[in-house]
Amino acid sequence: MSSPVIDVTSPSGDLSAGPTERSTDGGLGLGPPDDGSDAGVTGLSLCGVTKEFSLGRHDTVTALDDISLEVAPGEFVALLGPSGCGKSTVLRLLCGLEEPTAGEVRIRGRHPSELVAGHRLGVAFQEHALLPWSTVAENVALPFKVAGEPVDRDRVRSLLELVGIAEFADARPKQLSGGMRQRASIARALALRPEVLLLDEPFGALDAVTRRRMNVELQAIWSTDQVTTLLVTHSVDEAVFLADRVIVMTGRPGRIRTIRHPGFERPRSPELLRSPEFHEIVDELTVALYEAE
Ligand SMILES: Nc1ncnc2c1ncn2[C@@H]1O[C@H](COP(=O)(O)OP(=O)(O)OP(=O)(O)O)[C@@H](O)[C@H]1O
Ligand SMILES: [Mg+2]
Repeated sequence: MSSPVIDVTSPSGDLSAGPTERSTDGGLGLGPPDDGSDAGVTGLSLCGVTKEFSLGRHDTVTALDDISLEVAPGEFVALLGPSGCGKSTVLRLLCGLEEPTAGEVRIRGRHPSELVAGHRLGVAFQEHALLPWSTVAENVALPFKVAGEPVDRDRVRSLLELVGIAEFADARPKQLSGGMRQRASIARALALRPEVLLLDEPFGALDAVTRRRMNVELQAIWSTDQVTTLLVTHSVDEAVFLADRVIVMTGRPGRIRTIRHPGFERPRSPELLRSPEFHEIVDELTVALYEAE
């Protein structure tokens, strides 16, 4: 079976200025490989990736089947697909939490564990995974501690303000609502100004108004820090509003079914959500998603 390799350029031309010029690795030795190859030019790449899980002694489930995907440095890609099609598995492979059964997963041409070790990867999973015994502020400060860096209290405070939970800085996670916990988890993912942001349904538990506000904030963070972002979402609107490229996966085993470049100018404002062009793309992707089941 052939791999549907995806181009990394946006027809809107958005990506030509800025994102690909980003090269800082903070002296962590995560720059492009020295072997003369251009592998390091790519932000994230999955090449012919298949992932099988074992279900007991004899059974296996194929979660992903021959997926090839490249995300350019600074690009924002949204991943849509039916429940169980392997979206979270893609993110887990990119954080080095799983290894592919076949194929290769690379970040800047290297194994994801190198970026993880350099603390340059920001992740917010479906389950918020906050430490229950720590305060919200301590949870957001955790990446500094894990990286062995002094905690930047101003950064922690401004992130809590950004996600709208500053007044709960000293509360424990169990004293927060589900959506507030998700917001704390996003703040934590951003703490160290990551080069790569992997977000798994980060706004799923938010009300529509907060979700929209967080979408606008995420766009601002993405465009300021030019962080290479892969967002898994069940919201077609959110995907089209935020992404340079929207990818629809098929039901299990997950394959790439449709790719769409929304191509709207940035910054995108909430008025875009009311435009016929926006609705046309949302409708098209909704049909693709329906047919992907
Ligand atoms: N550790 C595991 N062991 C066995 N099977 C697994 C494991 N992790 C995932 N799977 C299986 O792989 C498939 C894809 O799971 P995954 O969590 O990636 O789906 P998803 O697209 O994120 O779904 P959702 O939208 O519901 O979050 C599912 O069939 C799931 O049961
Ligand atoms: Mg998932």
